[in-house]
Amino acid sequence: MTTRLGATPDEVATAARRVMARCDELAHVTSTPGRIERVYLSPEHARVNRLAAEWMREAGMTTRQDAAGNQVGRLGPPEAPALVIGSHLDTVPDAGRYDGIAGVLMGLEVVRLLRAPGADGGWVSPLPFALEVIAFSDEEGTRFGKALLGSSAVAGQWDDAWWTLTDAEGTTVREAFLDFGLDPGRIGEAARRPSELVAYLEAHIEQGPELDRRGESLAVVSSIASARRFQLVVEGEARHAGGTPYDMRRDALLGASESALAVERLCRAEHHIIGTVGQLEAFPGAVNIVPGEARFSLDLRGEFDGARDRVWDAISRELDDIMGRRHLRWTAREVHSAPAVFCAPLLQDVLREGILSTVATPSLTAGAPAASGREDPATLFSPAGHDGMAIGSITDVGMLFLRNPDGISHHPDEAVSEGDVGLGIRALAEAVLHRAAEPA
Ligand code: GLV
Ligand code: MN
Ligand code: MN
Repeated sequence: MTTRLGATPDEVATAARRVMARCDELAHVTSTPGRIERVYLSPEHARVNRLAAEWMREAGMTTRQDAAGNQVGRLGPPEAPALVIGSHLDTVPDAGRYDGIAGVLMGLEVVRLLRAPGADGGWVSPLPFALEVIAFSDEEGTRFGKALLGSSAVAGQWDDAWWTLTDAEGTTVREAFLDFGLDPGRIGEAARRPSELVAYLEAHIEQGPELDRRGESLAVVSSIASARRFQLVVEGEARHAGGTPYDMRRDALLGASESALAVERLCRAEHHIIGTVGQLEAFPGAVNIVPGEARFSLDLRGEFDGARDRVWDAISRELDDIMGRRHLRWTAREVHSAPAVFCAPLLQDVLREGILSTVATPSLTAGAPAASGREDPATLFSPAGHDGMAIGSITDVGMLFLRNPDGISHHPDEAVSEGDVGLGIRALAEAVLHRAAEPA
């Protein structure tokens, strides 16, 4: 298949350079100097939305911030269905600068490469559909524990139970909406109807080592893991660290610690199931007191919902056993649940064509790490979560992965090369053209 994108290698290289520079610029918008942290409905969220809106307008798009704080740019007539390219601008604590961000900025470059001059001196979509870029406001769930708040609102799946979720300061989602200038009563207006959408495409760094190990730049994603998140509380008894003999202790931290080890053991025994205890706190938290209470988180993912749920049942039985032996009590509150999403076969095909088009333009890779010369681009399952998990309920989803050196992500060392970003932009733009050539 020959490439059909008119852009020259220089134009694509310039686009990649702009993505890298803008990722650097957004990295400065943080609540914590010296580290990147940007959470939902924060002043930093408002600042990156303003920047994204400026860049969307510069690409020729009209812009709006929706009722859930997502920043939306659009090129094309209001009544046309849209192909949406998106990802998120919020971050985890002490984040890297590319997770989500690169995908949003690459979407803007795809629009710039595909747009055509309009009669009135502006830009139009030359395709049989409008093009939209959505910068989702909350994918990570860093502030309120529940992930995908922004994209769930767009999918029309907002759950009123989420209004009372609280952040570490005790601020509720409802209060944070009002502080940000959003009206909770209008959340339904963020929802999009399936008939308004053609498809959803997202480019994202892999957040794992597979492409780096294979020495390839890009992959098609086959599916996104299902996920559940829990906050667990273990109750024991706080007593004197010196005076309490072992047979009288009900140490909640030891119960939680043994649970974390059980999570590792039970998940390792299963294919494509992964569990993480990322938060663990002991109370009252003094050196000379046996912990009377422990709280910990559990992030559980699987390729298939059923296997994930069976492992959660096994973990629950194991926790009953551990807590029983240690005379502790435990409770779990589920704060997030999202089903596995399978990428649409047609979108996998057009992304594959897009990747193959980059192999056909080797000059694009000059000075950058080699692109795959293979005839069959890698197809990978995504254990990481993405906005497509929510958007998959209203339209077809396709995802493109970019090589992530050493697979390190959710860490300041997270990286992607400018060469791979250039290949990704071309692959994504070609995929959109291939999609445009398919029947509506
Ligand atoms: C988001 O990056 C997630 O997978 O938790
Ligand atoms: Mn992330
Ligand atoms: Mn992400």
